[in-house]
Amino acid sequence: MLRIRNIHKSYGRVKAVDGVSLHVENGEVLGLLGPNGAGKSTTISIAVGLILPDSGEVVVGGVGSPSEPAVRAMMGLAPQAVALYDDLTAAENLDCFGRLYGLDRSARRSAAASALERVGLSDRARDRVKAYSGGMKRRLNLATVLLHNPRLVLLDEPTAGVDPQSRSAIIEMVRSLRDEGRAVVYTTHYMEEAQRVCDRIEIVDHGRVIASGSPDELIGLHGGASVITIQTADSESRFETDDPVSELTLRLRDPGVMGVRIDRPDLESVFLRLTGRSLRD
Ligand SMILES: Nc1ncnc2c1ncn2[C@@H]1O[C@H](COP(=O)(O)OP(=O)(O)O)[C@@H](O)[C@H]1O
Ligand SMILES: [Mg+2]
Repeated sequence: MLRIRNIHKSYGRVKAVDGVSLHVENGEVLGLLGPNGAGKSTTISIAVGLILPDSGEVVVGGVGSPSEPAVRAMMGLAPQAVALYDDLTAAENLDCFGRLYGLDRSARRSAAASALERVGLSDRARDRVKAYSGGMKRRLNLATVLLHNPRLVLLDEPTAGVDPQSRSAIIEMVRSLRDEGRAVVYTTHYMEEAQRVCDRIEIVDHGRVIASGSPDELIGLHGGASVITIQTADSESRFETDDPVSELTLRLRDPGVMGVRIDRPDLESVFLRLTGRSLRD
């Protein structure tokens, strides 16, 4: 559904995107993970044709480039910065977006109703957006993306700064978009969330893809060892191991053991091992 080949984009001396290639199929969620400034949003902007790459190619739906309006009509983008009119109600916001997508009045009405239903805002449709919480704004931002029934959905940090209930609702919605056979690109900083929702992940840093695979593949390849913690009456010891079950069986022969804990590597371990611990602002 989306194929990006070797795209580059520089701003002066900053190489925002430095040779990214990726693809997303129908019925798949592709995660783009990376620290701040890694090039995720620039990659997404290039994918939807908002900015042109210095070099490289984007093909959507196997047919064409996002510079063609008919190709753009297949895509829906929820930008990182929520794009809504605060003084309008949710219904009025969706009506505006529906007009931009070229839907007629009755199509706009029914698309808005089903999008609101989908994000759990039907009963707040007549409220102005300025009265909404952060989570509600994010959900409405997602609703605007779905009005024209896009086959490719790009969500740039759709859960940034939302409450746990909204986060959970957004993750469920992404799963349902995938189950309907749409292709989804999803960027996030939240590793646990990526592990739950993404079929495949590209870890990006400094404008390049530095690792790709399913969450399990990435953890197996780059996650490092498991850590076993063993407590006795007067001490606590930690052991690193690649085979926690055998290691634990061995350690449990000691009658003094009072408690154990296994910490298996997760996507966060992978991310920190690959991108380092230094702060990125
Ligand atoms: N319009 C722009 N002008 C100048 N620099 C930019 C612009 N957009 C992005 N950058 C720079 O490009 C790099 C990648 O940014 P971005 O794609 O927003 O990263 P991410 O979304 O992964 O945080 C950063 O160093 C950012 O400062
Ligand atoms: Mg970004």
